[in-house]
Amino acid sequence: MSEHIEVLLTEEEVDARIRAIGEQISRDYAGKQVHLVCVLKGGSFFLCELAKRITVPVSLDFMSVSSYGGDTKSSGRVKIVKDLDESLQDKDVIVVEDIVDSGRTLNYLLGMLRGRGPASLRLCTLLNKPDRRVVDVNVDYTGFCIPDEFVVGYGLDYDQKYRNLPYIGVVKFDDYK
Ligand code: IMP
Ligand code: MG
Repeated sequence: MSEHIEVLLTEEEVDARIRAIGEQISRDYAGKQVHLVCVLKGGSFFLCELAKRITVPVSLDFMSVSSYGGDTKSSGRVKIVKDLDESLQDKDVIVVEDIVDSGRTLNYLLGMLRGRGPASLRLCTLLNKPDRRVVDVNVDYTGFCIPDEFVVGYGLDYDQKYRNLPYIGVVKFDDYK
């Protein structure tokens, strides 16, 4: 089956919104250092653009997770494929994600990271699909709330494709002819 991409949020809209979130974070963390934790791979494009717009000192770390399949999926347990390099102890941590969908991944991840003793822990997501929420997640910074559609670009993939699009698009599947 082939597919095409329809633009949902243009590059200019995304960039402007990231700039605004960066300014907000800079104000909220004035006088502090912020430790950004990126969830790979999807969060990486957003993390880079966001970090450039933050004016307080920033440090970065990366982790990679994958969902367990089958019946553990409903529990939201995720497997850590690559853990953070550094301790979170006493740091002001912001988790940077591409999208909060069901909320299962972030609910589990935030619970786990909270146990590592950060001074504070917040969540910043580029996209938020509130209609799809199954598990409650407190989102501190949201780029855009979007409808229940499968989106790609700016780090988000469909079958590992389209992560490099500089805008957010909706995947539309073409009818078989
Ligand atoms: P969760 O359902 O909130 O746990 O989201 C799990 C993961 O599903 C996200 O981190 C994304 O990697 C992926 N995901 C959810 N919705 C989309 C989408 O619309 N496009 C691409 N990936 C998505
Ligand atoms: Mg993700």
